[in-house]
Amino acid sequence: MKRFSTKLLAWYGLHKRALPWRQTKDPYVVWLSEIILQQTRVAQGLPYFERFWHDFPTVHDLAQASEDAVLKRWQGLGYYSRARNLHKAAKRVSEQYEGNFPSTLQELLKLPGVGPYTASAIASICFDEACAVVDGNVYRVLARHFNNDIPINQPKGIKSFQALAQSLIDPKSPGAYNQAIMEFGALHCTPKKPHCTTCPLSDSCLALADDRVAELPVKVKAKPIKKRYFHYLIPIDQNNNTLLSKREQKDIWQGLYEFPLIEAKDLLSVDALQAHDDVPEWAKAAHWTKFQEEAVIHKLSHQALHTYFYVLENIDETLPISWSSVPDYAVPRLIERFLDKFIR
Ligand code: ADE
Repeated sequence: MKRFSTKLLAWYGLHKRALPWRQTKDPYVVWLSEIILQQTRVAQGLPYFERFWHDFPTVHDLAQASEDAVLKRWQGLGYYSRARNLHKAAKRVSEQYEGNFPSTLQELLKLPGVGPYTASAIASICFDEACAVVDGNVYRVLARHFNNDIPINQPKGIKSFQALAQSLIDPKSPGAYNQAIMEFGALHCTPKKPHCTTCPLSDSCLALADDRVAELPVKVKAKPIKKRYFHYLIPIDQNNNTLLSKREQKDIWQGLYEFPLIEAKDLLSVDALQAHDDVPEWAKAAHWTKFQEEAVIHKLSHQALHTYFYVLENIDETLPISWSSVPDYAVPRLIERFLDKFIR
């Protein structure tokens, strides 16, 4: 019987997508693509990758950009600490390594935001080091093929799948092998409705033989979702200016911009909100209009943000930001969605 890796590589040769980062071994390009692909699927990540690569063709260009410029191009991908680490790592490579990425797994791991997954991807694809990547696709393919029900989101499972992946890698073409197993998970051994009847690995798939494909991989339940209650004030003065401020606190959306926010223990009525200590004096005298009767519920990985938006007009204060420049600021997706609906 052919080896697992031989079958996967044959499948990959026939079915791989022609993606821009697959045309090169430039570690800058591979790193950029892998950081983006950790955050989203290929189809959604592609335009982000193209824009970053176009606007910052080398690691020096990215290093010299402002953090705001980097966050703006990341806008919509979520999990913004990844974007800040991307920028930090670019600076490190540009300034301390003269633009040359480290070439081993161990050295790559020292870069900000580069964990075992990204370091293994770069080391194998760019430098032919035989280190196995394990992402969500790899967990699924391996859990099914080997009928392994150890939870993939606990230390024991993470360790055992990493070891299994490492034992299967083809040392002659580790980069192609790693991309093959991820691509196979993304296109063939999909989470829902996997293509088992046309699967080139079906004769050795233990979950298929045991009719357990749909149950695998196993995850233990995530921690409960925390509810938060946001009230955004959208002030607009006589000259069509508004107010945005940068979120500096250690919380969601660090480094992004937002309108004045009142967070409370529950959703508040207009009267209760206007009496809230955090509402500035100038806002109290304004004319308030609730933008939408129903609260918007914006879901993050462990939080649900129940949100009202209030438009505040007839403001005496002069505000610092012209409405027309609002699109230049990196804002959370919740605010981007509001702005799409609220057209002035
Ligand atoms: N997912 C993340 N990186 C990938 C890659 N290089 N090939 C296929 N799928 C991926």
